[in-house]
Amino acid sequence: MKIITVLGARPQFIKASLVSKELRKNNEEITVHTGQHYDKNLSQVFFDEMEILKPDYNMGIGSDSHARQTAHMMIELEKIFLSETPQLVLLYGDTNSTLAAALTASKLNIPIAHVEAGPRMYDKRVPEEINRVITDHVSTLLFAPTQISLNNLKKEDLINGSYLTGDVMLDIFNYFTRKIGEKNEIIQKLNLEGKKYFLITIHRARNTDSFKNLKAIVNTLNIISKSNILVFPLHPRTEKCLHEYELFNILKNNNRIHLINPLGYIDMNILIRNANMIITDSGGLQKEAYFAKKPCITIDTSTGWPETVQQGENLIFNHTQDDFIDSENIINAINTFSPPRKYKNIFGEGRASKIIPKIVKNVIN
Ligand code: UD1
Repeated sequence: MKIITVLGARPQFIKASLVSKELRKNNEEITVHTGQHYDKNLSQVFFDEMEILKPDYNMGIGSDSHARQTAHMMIELEKIFLSETPQLVLLYGDTNSTLAAALTASKLNIPIAHVEAGPRMYDKRVPEEINRVITDHVSTLLFAPTQISLNNLKKEDLINGSYLTGDVMLDIFNYFTRKIGEKNEIIQKLNLEGKKYFLITIHRARNTDSFKNLKAIVNTLNIISKSNILVFPLHPRTEKCLHEYELFNILKNNNRIHLINPLGYIDMNILIRNANMIITDSGGLQKEAYFAKKPCITIDTSTGWPETVQQGENLIFNHTQDDFIDSENIINAINTFSPPRKYKNIFGEGRASKIIPKIVKNVIN
């Protein structure tokens, strides 16, 4: 059996780690890294920490406009798919690397399995939404992490080949939480022992690439930092925009905000589990906050994980109609947020990384 897994960006290295381990037991997987993420702390650190084998191919495509990046990836992926002739291409999530591989494989009539199929934001301005919808529609096997994701697939007439597996990120969160145990070097390093803090991540283009939205976020963080210490690992996109809009120093000069480099999986896991609240625009972090039973505030147009909002554990602050973030609204919510903390298994039982390789093998055989 020969499967090609295509990876490219930080969340995919994480999501693939345990499934890959399972497939590698019998030498059944070849991995391709598109190079979408190339900085050490967005890429290599995950291979090291999560014991992912070095990719068989690294295409080194790098950053570019969406069309150019996706097109370059497709050209290189086609060569690899043609020479390796895999029985199936395995894809994760919703990045441009996912889309490029989905289009390339489907044009060559190679079956595709999509892990994390079905979440929908119902907002076509979101690039990840386009990537996810297209990938789902050309996939043969669709692995839905939640019941709502599966329902979405049903609505789009994609129920054939769809399976409710639970979320691979939960398995990974459980596995590494056990492995890491009480280790807390990052907490010591940031001098946070015994202190309450909020963990912040912001990287979505719709938040970072708009001056008024990024300014509203900076204002919000400045105000909440008066009563809470903030830890803010900066994605390179966010750092670049903060400098461009001359907002960087406002955060840097605030000694209650730890503005730090992007972190690997282990440090993030420790910071999530010890945080008082998570404020983010990352889909992955919304889920990890739920796994760690931490209240989450999401600053985005919508969420792919409405079940966390329905449960009352995640508050979403949509951009307003003219795509503007209302800082005052967010600050009020942070000060009054009191989630019910009745956590359910909405992301499954933590067995998705075992279930997925089994289904893939059965179908191929
Ligand atoms: C991508 C994914 C997003 C995912 C995120 C995780 C798409 C459309 N978006 O967004 O779904 O949540 O990864 O981080 O695929 N850059 C670096 N070093 C790198 C990579 C990027 O400095 O190693 C900078 C470049 O200036 C680049 C920018 O970050 O232009 C954005 O990178 P890109 O991969 O296009 O999108 P992300 O925002 O990372």
